[in-house]
Amino acid sequence: MQERIISHLREKEGFISGEEISRQLRVSRAGIWKHIRELRRQGYRIEALPHEGYRLVSVPDKLFPGEIAYRLNTVLIGKEIIYKKEVTSTMDEAFVLGTAGCPDGTVICAENQTKGRGRMGRSWVSPKGKGVYFSAVLRPRLDLSDAPKMTLLFAAAVCEALREVSNLPVKIKWPNDLMVENKKIAGILTELNAEIDRIRFMVVGLGININSALTQLPSQSASLKSETKKSFSRVLVMQKVLRALDEWYIRMQKEGFVPVMDRWKELSMTLGQRVRLSDADGVLDGVAVDLSPEGGLIIEQDDGARVKRMSGDVSLRLQVS
Ligand code: BTN
Repeated sequence: MQERIISHLREKEGFISGEEISRQLRVSRAGIWKHIRELRRQGYRIEALPHEGYRLVSVPDKLFPGEIAYRLNTVLIGKEIIYKKEVTSTMDEAFVLGTAGCPDGTVICAENQTKGRGRMGRSWVSPKGKGVYFSAVLRPRLDLSDAPKMTLLFAAAVCEALREVSNLPVKIKWPNDLMVENKKIAGILTELNAEIDRIRFMVVGLGININSALTQLPSQSASLKSETKKSFSRVLVMQKVLRALDEWYIRMQKEGFVPVMDRWKELSMTLGQRVRLSDADGVLDGVAVDLSPEGGLIIEQDDGARVKRMSGDVSLRLQVS
């Protein structure tokens, strides 16, 4: 009901009478007043004047589903949005939703994560109310071997959205770190619920540092605010990201992964660079020359041998000329 009241208030430039809202929503005027009080408690500023009615003055920068869904216009991603103030990790919540059969593209977001996690067993620092932390449950009809390419799709889409919203030269470090120069601004974690050869569903988690101060973040990180000296509406950033994901997800289903890989390559800061890749097998030095058709990184070693890696941590090394 509160979402419906807010959408009525939004549609009106000026005041809307309590009587009109109550008639349209078939709720008593006392009932409307109760909901208005609750909305104010949530941070909506709503002016109330005798004989005039109610007017929406401002909305809180909370990741409320009604705010994100307002004029979102996506086809799949974010059609269903679930909001929690605090979770251990949105990944855990998404797995519960996915197992219970939630629709493709369901998104779960939170203001705070007490155990946010990153790739390779790391944690993801999630300052409360300062970033966007969400996971999407996806049910693509793909072979298990295609899963790494979905991660690249996410990276390209998020990179485009962050560039658009901030004008920063955001780039992708393989496989899916979003960087401004050498500082990480956002990260993506992909986890699967799969059979031996089939994806049941995948959960893609995204953490973006938006209004956090550098003191709240690990070293070698940045936020949109630390880089631009401006604050951002987290709702607007999340909407941009969801729209970009939706576009690329639908495009991939129609055209396959070739356009995704091409876009990823254009946005990459890894290809063409001297890199060191660390994984469970050790350390590999060389030049990152290409993406493999499955989304792996191809590294040319100094003796000319080319090797492919599907996972690992890449650091860029200085080019020696
Ligand atoms: C990485 O760069 O290592 C991936 C970071 C992914 C962080 C996001 S925040 C939302 C979702 N929930 C988590 O616990 N992790 C992902």
